[in-house]
Amino acid sequence: MIAPRMLHRAIGTVLAVFVTAHIANHLAALAAVEAHVRFMERARLVYRQPVVEAVLLLCVVLQAASGLRMLWTGRRRRRTVLAWLQAGSGAYLALFLAIHVGAVLVARIAGGLDTNFYFAAAGLHVWPFVLFFTPYYFLAVVALFVHLGCALRRGRAVVALASAAGIVVAGLIVAALMGSLYPVEIPANYLQTFAARRA
Ligand code: HEM
Repeated sequence: MIAPRMLHRAIGTVLAVFVTAHIANHLAALAAVEAHVRFMERARLVYRQPVVEAVLLLCVVLQAASGLRMLWTGRRRRRTVLAWLQAGSGAYLALFLAIHVGAVLVARIAGGLDTNFYFAAAGLHVWPFVLFFTPYYFLAVVALFVHLGCALRRGRAVVALASAAGIVVAGLIVAALMGSLYPVEIPANYLQTFAARRA
């Protein structure tokens, strides 16, 4: 049987392709919402192909499962700061992915929503949900960079550099979603979910 560590690294490499495009997609929103939507429309031609999407979602499940298994089995051997940073960022990513991918699929399949920029941004425009969504997205991007920095196994300087890059990228993405870079008007159908919960 393939060892969880080998599986985790192999699937992580496959997932890195999607995640790089995904983060680039969110960075496109720094220019304008239309740039984000155009980028997503082209990227979806690949990752929304049924076979590609099924493989992607299977990779997400296997990545989280193999990571959580290592988190548990290695709990007594973990001594260094880097080992704990890798485990902590991985644990957050597993939790984030369970909520994030679940929310995207439910909104798309049950809610009939186009899960684009406005879907991601809506929660950041409704009080008090902004208190949840700001750290939720910010920490996801930072955790991703920290986790990848640790996986490179090049020591503390590389992890520090990756973390700093993660903080900058996360700040820019969240600022665009919040409407801090230019005015963002969220269409009413994206706000409805939150309005229903407040009523
Ligand atoms: C600020 C951070 C993020 C935002 C705003 C965001 C937003 C979104 C949106 C709007 C979608 C729907 C895409 C579509 O309909 O085509 C999506 C899908 C997805 N995201 Fe993210 N995401 C973020 C970070 C991440 C990270 C860090 C990961 C992985 C580590 C991730 C993994 C995924 C996956 C696996 C999907 C499902 C793709 C699909 O099957 O359609 N996301 N995200």
